[in-house]
Amino acid sequence: MSKDYELATKGVRAGQARTEFQEHSEALFLTSSFVFKNARQAAARFAGEDEGMVYTRYTNPTVAMLQDRLAALEGAESCVATASGMSAILTTAMTHLRSGDHVVCSNAVFGATIQLFNNVLSRFGVETTYVSPTKAEEWQRAVRGNTRLFFLETPSNPLTEVSDIAVLSAIAKKAGALLAVDNVFCTPALQRPLALGADIVIHSATKYLDGQGRVIAGAVAGSKALVGAPMTAFLRTAGPTLSPFNAWVVLKGLETLELRMLAQSAAALELARWLEARQEVSKVFYPGLPSHPQHELAKRQQRAAGAVLSFEVKGGRAAAWRLIDSTRLVSVTANLGDVKTTIVHPASTTHGRISPEARAAAGIGEGLVRLAVGLEAVADLKVDLQRGLEAE
Ligand SMILES: Cc1ncc(COP(=O)(O)O)c(C=O)c1O
Repeated sequence: MSKDYELATKGVRAGQARTEFQEHSEALFLTSSFVFKNARQAAARFAGEDEGMVYTRYTNPTVAMLQDRLAALEGAESCVATASGMSAILTTAMTHLRSGDHVVCSNAVFGATIQLFNNVLSRFGVETTYVSPTKAEEWQRAVRGNTRLFFLETPSNPLTEVSDIAVLSAIAKKAGALLAVDNVFCTPALQRPLALGADIVIHSATKYLDGQGRVIAGAVAGSKALVGAPMTAFLRTAGPTLSPFNAWVVLKGLETLELRMLAQSAAALELARWLEARQEVSKVFYPGLPSHPQHELAKRQQRAAGAVLSFEVKGGRAAAWRLIDSTRLVSVTANLGDVKTTIVHPASTTHGRISPEARAAAGIGEGLVRLAVGLEAVADLKVDLQRGLEAE
């Protein structure tokens, strides 16, 4: 498909490959293996001399359509789909790191990402230094001769800190390291890290790419040299491949990605403004607000501010829990990226395993509430939140 098409068009059309039946909607190939015409063709496929399908752990037409569509959206040469967001991060690490390497990572990344670096990759001789997502000088100072990877998420969870991708990419390049950006919060509808200098884009497709909370899935996008060739080889050998069914669900999710991201961001902005004006709320964290420390950067780097916001209610944990328990519409769940709005108390859930001191240092207060705004009417969401804000 031509690179000149707009994002909305690519989301609906890119990557589709029709069978002889000329189906209009993308076909779901639920098959573990593919049949060869004869022994000669089987040998050629195994030798990589014939590009056809062999076995779904290696390749599958539905998975390939998803990969091609997401590559088009991210402006990437290639994309590989993985069984989950975590396996996308694992695939990136296993492809580009070896024993003795050093990673510089934002200290505001998803908890399991930190566990992966600290508890798994450390056992294979990979060391990680954590730095502020917003202080470029800390990234520069952390660089060592053996630094091979910079890793960040922007905006961060739950405080929505925004990292300057172009600035960190320049530091990474000078250091001879790759920059990998977890683009979960924005998706390519709002932010295209490769165009800003990142080398690798990572997705938990479980979130906005599916968009309706149905499947666990992941993906990595980037050049053929960094992603397509080596990661396909890793997935084929190690096996954290995406199931065709989940690929099909995400593929259909991509068709509404731009619409959803823009609508959910607009709703989040309206709620952020409303919350900021309420006397029960002491602070709102949302890049779309002029009060956000990286508001100008977010305006430059992102097309909209995203659908996740956090806010601190006066009265600490008791007030935060009262607010959450008073909702009737919003779902109390730690997932995000759904058309159904979700609410969570980070200090006692997603960030509950870190010490109170570390939590306080990270700015995760006892009164902090995270809202991942969906597609319900904003007026109904306000009523749902107002009940808890005004409860005694
Ligand atoms: C930013 C981010 N990256 C990665 C992951 C991991 O994705 P998955 O749950 O699909 O493995 C998550 C999950 O919440 C996430 O929020």
